[in-house]
Amino acid sequence: MKDIIQELERRRETARLGGGERRIEAQHKRGKLTARERIDLLLDEGSFEEFDMFVEHRCTDFGMQDIKFPGDGVVTGWGTINGRVVYLFAKDFTVFGGSLSETHAKKINKIQDMALQNRAPIIGLFDAGGARIQEGVAALGGYGEVFLRNVLASGVIPQISVIMGPCAGGDVYSPAMTDFIFMVRDTSYMFVTGPDVVKTVTNEEVTAEELGGASIHTTRSSIADNAYDNDVEALLQMRRLMDYLPANNLSGVPELPTRDSAKRIEPSLDTLIPDNPNKPYDIKELITKVSDEGDFFEIQESFAKNIVIGFARMEGRTVGVVANQPMVLAGVLDADSSRKAARFVRFCDCFDIPIVTFVDVPGFLPGTAQEYGGLIKHGAKLLFAYSEATVPKVTVITRKAYGGAYDVMSSKHIRGDVNYAWPSAEIAVMGPKGATEIIYRSELGEPEKIAQRIAEYEDRFANPFVAAERGYIDEVILPRNTRVRVCRALNMLRNKTVENPWKKHDNIPL
Ligand code: HXC
Repeated sequence: MKDIIQELERRRETARLGGGERRIEAQHKRGKLTARERIDLLLDEGSFEEFDMFVEHRCTDFGMQDIKFPGDGVVTGWGTINGRVVYLFAKDFTVFGGSLSETHAKKINKIQDMALQNRAPIIGLFDAGGARIQEGVAALGGYGEVFLRNVLASGVIPQISVIMGPCAGGDVYSPAMTDFIFMVRDTSYMFVTGPDVVKTVTNEEVTAEELGGASIHTTRSSIADNAYDNDVEALLQMRRLMDYLPANNLSGVPELPTRDSAKRIEPSLDTLIPDNPNKPYDIKELITKVSDEGDFFEIQESFAKNIVIGFARMEGRTVGVVANQPMVLAGVLDADSSRKAARFVRFCDCFDIPIVTFVDVPGFLPGTAQEYGGLIKHGAKLLFAYSEATVPKVTVITRKAYGGAYDVMSSKHIRGDVNYAWPSAEIAVMGPKGATEIIYRSELGEPEKIAQRIAEYEDRFANPFVAAERGYIDEVILPRNTRVRVCRALNMLRNKTVENPWKKHDNIPL
């Protein structure tokens, strides 16, 4: 017995070393932690239960039968984050560059199956060179099995990907099918084909950072949802994120104790809206002032900043926040911001997370760039997402709600449950100047007359009352009472039950 225990310990020690001291040192020199160091930071201390530590590949081509590392380039298992179960796999770059073999894929599949069966979130930590080249089609098949499971689990359990090193080939498509992708600045890259292949095929010279670094994916492609300065920060932020997320689509959102009273009045909000309707203000001030303890986990902070999305809590329960940002492009809806918010609304709806929407939107962005870029379809995504969502939806119009954007932003007409407006709200087909210039085109040469027409239009529409008279707004509320009213509304909607007509699935304009 003693011998076998010693043998077990020896085998474990070998497995824990992954690709060996030299490669671990190289990993550290690049500013990256090892797979096991990452897991230790991500999970509650001592909670990690590892599976399949001794699994080895079965490849016999290219002399591979003589090069084996227990674990085969991925560390898998489960543990807890602040006491709640998560499944995870972490690519070990020190073993064949974290590349995916048939057995490596099977290890990931086992964890994916367990996460789905047991309805708990799954987190993948990526640092890998794609398909194990020596294994050929067996590796491709392995990826297929991973992809299929990503899709089957989509909308049932949260799936999170953290990119912590190079990520090429097959290793980008699995993250792309998960709910959120986070990256680490300067050490992580995502691309389907790397700079060398790009040079060969297109003759374009590009660095890995320019092709698929964190800055590109958080600001231009919007593939990544946020980036962090280093491994430690990224993992600590993942712990924070997981506290917001439900375990699965039926579990309901987690409820955390809070000292922040639902009855908290916030007088400073009464002066948030500037006197000049064309002056911006920061919508994040409103979000943090109404959220529990001012805590807000923003998603896609650096992309399409004219809309703000993220998670907050109201009375300890998670809500998804969507808000036009007047500080950027006056909060207009364009193709990027519509896509960004639509995906988030759908995430919230999948996982039963109520949606709170703050509206200050001058409309959709006009112009050829937008129209050629598919604004109609991208705008429709957001309209579609809000319309199909059956979770509680509470909307607050703070200032402008113009045109089609009024309808889109969780209006009453597309099943907004409780729709409030501040006294400063202006709900109309368009802004006073544009509207007047169209309906009084013949008077354009007479500035005084036009000014009078603008004033008349403002009198009629630059207020929340026309909409309130029709019941499109349930109540005009004082800004200072926003938190109180939203919390009350969410409480009232706790048992909301709405079913859409049966269908295999919808056909959202992709
Ligand atoms: C086997 C691999 C590997 C791979 C890296 N290694 N990628 N082994 N299969 N795909 C091994 C290296 O041989 C090396 O082994 C170790 O990992 C570290 O690699 P380096 O190249 O020294 O590291 P670095 O300079 O940091 O470069 C990392 C890298 C590069 C950018 C990931 O290795 C690379 O470009 N790899 C190939 C990427 C790729 O084209 N993959 C196939 C994609 S096709 P030693 O023994 O020296 O430590 C694909 C198809 C799936 O994935 C499609 C499904 C849709």
